[in-house]
Amino acid sequence: MRMVDLITKKKEGEILTDEEIQFMIDGYVKAEIPDYQMSAMLMAICFKGMTDHEMAVMTGAMAHSGDMVDLSAIEGVKVDKHSTGGVGDKTTLVIAPIVAACGGKVAKMSGRGLGHTGGTIDKMEAIPGMKTSLPREEFFDIVNKIGLSVIGQSGNLAPADKKLYALRDVTATVGSIPLIASSIMSKKLAAGSDSILLDVKTGSGAFMKTLDDSILLASKMVAIGEHEGRKTVALITDMDIPLGKAIGNSLEVIEAVHTLQGNGPEDLTSVCLKLAANMLHLTGMGDVETCEQMAKEAITSGKALQKLIDMVEAQGGDSRVIKDTSAFAKAPLNYEVRSDREGYITHMNTEKCGIASVELGAGRATKESVIDYSAGIILEKKIGAYVKKGEVLATLYAADEKMFADAEKLLLEAYTISEEKSVIEPLIFARVS
Ligand code: URA
Repeated sequence: MRMVDLITKKKEGEILTDEEIQFMIDGYVKAEIPDYQMSAMLMAICFKGMTDHEMAVMTGAMAHSGDMVDLSAIEGVKVDKHSTGGVGDKTTLVIAPIVAACGGKVAKMSGRGLGHTGGTIDKMEAIPGMKTSLPREEFFDIVNKIGLSVIGQSGNLAPADKKLYALRDVTATVGSIPLIASSIMSKKLAAGSDSILLDVKTGSGAFMKTLDDSILLASKMVAIGEHEGRKTVALITDMDIPLGKAIGNSLEVIEAVHTLQGNGPEDLTSVCLKLAANMLHLTGMGDVETCEQMAKEAITSGKALQKLIDMVEAQGGDSRVIKDTSAFAKAPLNYEVRSDREGYITHMNTEKCGIASVELGAGRATKESVIDYSAGIILEKKIGAYVKKGEVLATLYAADEKMFADAEKLLLEAYTISEEKSVIEPLIFARVS
């Protein structure tokens, strides 16, 4: 078999056989197929797509390219969750403790920030001392004892995805439904949970910009999960506006803590309750409404916050910053971005908000960049608000004054302010199961 023939086949819109897909994934992981050939294949897939069967075979080959984690050492129903990536998306830090407080088991492997989107592992590392890499036995042990642990993906979890993702990131081949579905589902299948909740983001801050594409992506991922015997549900959630007010690592941990204390922003609280309810439902704890009630009680009783504290302590972190968020190190400088006109905020280009936070040091410009955990943005005004000229739209936090100019420019471009009243979109568009 020759890779060049497979590229030609896909370029002509033909269907690859199971053997051809297996050959391509194996060969790429073993470095027998070079990046340039795989890049050409990825671009052909972007243009010609894949059948559901091709996508399922590719996902299986990618999942089996490394360890298939066996979570049987953890008692109870294990439930996982994956977001397709967003701006201000700190939901895992809220939901995992809620689910654990209600008796669910969350053994979660999360990722780092990617492009304009943030990542849970970077946020967790904003907590001093927090370990995000643990030996497997310790990881299982923590989940058995306290019900949750969140760590980074181990080196050998779906290595095919690791290589393909890095290549897609630099070859303009991220935004393809078969490639996103196989990337996410290969990791989820390899990570071993019994059930999976997918948070598929839609809008200007998501990889899928339209609702139709997001629903299509969700249905493909749900089909792959169910085919592999995992109970899988997807919620399509709004990413046409940043979630909550905080963008940036320690700022987002602080907002997650406030949410667990019952004082979080309304949109974030509401999305987290729905996601947590669906995770609990997947573990068999009742219908979604009953589970949402349980999730609310986990917040009001303080049990969910205690679970976050337990996890931080179990993973070596300093829980003083969770018990008193004012103990987090603060950015030395801040800058207020003021509106240059009066009117209603009708739209926010959420990708630009994410890029602005990267400019401030909250994300990586290159693979080698070092994150400034205290950097980021607090959005003082969001869609629906009426602002006067000169009113503060957002406060920027950074370590270097020079960073403010570009971030301010991006944010001012991100806000659309007009005379017309704004339409508020729903937070959750659909549930796919
Ligand atoms: N998240 C992933 O893990 N993979 C993708 O392709 C996109 C988002």
